[in-house]
Amino acid sequence: MKIGLIGTGILGNAVGMHLLDSDFKLVAYNRTKNKTEKLASHGAEIVNSPKEVAEKSEFVITCVKDADAVKEVSFGENGIIHGIHSNLTIADMSTINPISSREISSEYKKNGIEMLDIPVMGGPNVAINGNLVLMASGDSKTFEKHKKILETIAHKVFYLGENGTAHTVKLTMNLQIAMLALSISEGITLARGASIDPKIFLDILNETYFKTGMSENKGYKMIQDEFTPTFTLENLKKDLKTINETARSFGISLPMTTSAEQVYQQALNNGFGDLDYTGILAYLKSSTNSENIQN
Ligand SMILES: NC(=O)c1ccc[n+]([C@@H]2O[C@H](COP(=O)([O-])OP(=O)(O)OC[C@H]3O[C@@H](n4cnc5c(N)ncnc54)[C@H](OP(=O)(O)O)[C@@H]3O)[C@@H](O)[C@H]2O)c1
Repeated sequence: MKIGLIGTGILGNAVGMHLLDSDFKLVAYNRTKNKTEKLASHGAEIVNSPKEVAEKSEFVITCVKDADAVKEVSFGENGIIHGIHSNLTIADMSTINPISSREISSEYKKNGIEMLDIPVMGGPNVAINGNLVLMASGDSKTFEKHKKILETIAHKVFYLGENGTAHTVKLTMNLQIAMLALSISEGITLARGASIDPKIFLDILNETYFKTGMSENKGYKMIQDEFTPTFTLENLKKDLKTINETARSFGISLPMTTSAEQVYQQALNNGFGDLDYTGILAYLKSSTNSENIQN
């Protein structure tokens, strides 16, 4: 089975490396070609368009920034649609809104192609060992046919029903990520403001029921100002916008997520977008400092 991979950013690269380690043949494309070098040196075939990826593989994973990017690699010039064949399935791992996902999958269906939604939880550090958590939706027979590949990518695979569903569930997950990063950051900021070592805050939190993987792991990197991205602040801001848009489409509002989107947007406007999402702490630090100077 030849797998195609379109999008070799932070996540796609790690997923691709793991598929190669698991003895799959991989054909990869990325808009910015130098981001495919690591995969090439581990045996992936690098091609020049999504169309070529589709022509040369049976199962194509798209792992790009947002819904516009998925549409572009799918239906744009030299997109996947120009390389389709009867033995092809598409699986979109990007975090996008469920409405776009339904539009994209129905466009593929019109052309005789099934698309699965396969958003994931977990970053490159777990993707590299096949330890993601994967939420799948789309045609159930297509899911069953390709379940083995999904179980290579992830240690837990949840099948959730029709197209779009997995993306809605994924958005409920990313809402947690945004809130947790903010609440830990505000805890650290409050401790620092009172001249208390923020490590004390983390050490005590981590002895309680309210600890999380984030407070136990990333928390200690955050207080060392270590924000090398595993998932960029810019991408989490993109997801907050998607969560709020999706909520509005269901006729509901999410007050905390609305506020969080504003804070992450300000961080983005102030140049913090390329940091890890936990760099929201660095933004709070800089905005607290400038407020103190103004006062
Ligand atoms: N990192 C994580 O921990 C994580 C976890 C779960 C889900 N995700 C989701 O997975 C997706 C990829 O995340 P990532 O962390 O790998 O992000 P990333 O490092 O920022 O990579 C983004 C990828 O999208 C491509 N891209 C963006 N716009 C494009 C367009 N218009 N046409 C073609 N390609 C385009 C980029 O190509 P260029 O290199 O040319 O810019 C790059 O390959 C996102 O939807 C993200 O929300 C990420």
